[in-house]
Amino acid sequence: MREELDKLETNELTPPYARYLVHLLRPFPNFDPSFIKPLRQKAVQLLQLQSGDRVLDAGCGPGGSFPYLVDAVGPAGEVVGIEISPEIAINARRRIDKNRWKNVQVIFADARTVELRGRFDALLMFAAADIYASSQALANLLPYLKDDARVVAFGAKLSRRRSGKVLNPILRLLWKLSFSSTPAVNYEPWAPLKDRIHELQAQEYFFGCMFLVWGKMNLAETLGFAASG
Ligand SMILES: C[S@@+](CC[C@H](N)C(=O)[O-])C[C@H]1O[C@@H](n2cnc3c(N)ncnc32)[C@H](O)[C@@H]1O
Repeated sequence: MREELDKLETNELTPPYARYLVHLLRPFPNFDPSFIKPLRQKAVQLLQLQSGDRVLDAGCGPGGSFPYLVDAVGPAGEVVGIEISPEIAINARRRIDKNRWKNVQVIFADARTVELRGRFDALLMFAAADIYASSQALANLLPYLKDDARVVAFGAKLSRRRSGKVLNPILRLLWKLSFSSTPAVNYEPWAPLKDRIHELQAQEYFFGCMFLVWGKMNLAETLGFAASG
């Protein structure tokens, strides 16, 4: 417990890139950078949510995807965000309060170890490299998905295109402003999903520097993967 409090005091649970931003944005709970909007919408569309579905938003941050997820699952559905930073989770909860959503909750926890209640119809990992690129986080979260649940990840990647290569050093630099445990950015950050997710498809954006991947959960494959290591 003391150790946990020390971490909170030293900000260790908030990524360096977010430390100042999180306070700056606190008065604006519905803020979301506009250039990201179409990609969020596309990511949520790919989740193929139905009314009444339960969806997990892992690494939910301040909840930028919540409005689209809430819309897609309707009042009978449920949105569960997981966020490791207590400071960022405050912003997500402010968004929930401001919008009076009754079917959205944020769990302040580490996706690598969180224990969840029940199973989910879909998993979103939007700009959450600590999760989609982490075998440990995937091993913990995927067993909470129903068979055939949809899985979507969005993030940044190194570009092989001439037009995008110039941005690679900037991306590497930005990654240094994340947790020291964040998997390094590479050309295929979704690789840990490849063995675990069925019919995984990928699409590049912004000169090959960003990606969306999507596919379906195959429980037998994932559990088999876990059993064989
Ligand atoms: C770049 S932000 C993206 C936030 C949000 N998904 C969005 O679209 O705005 C990544 C978030 O993942 C959170 N995060 C990092 N590692 C995590 C972990 N192991 N478990 C849960 N959340 C994590 C960070 O604190 C941060 O808020």
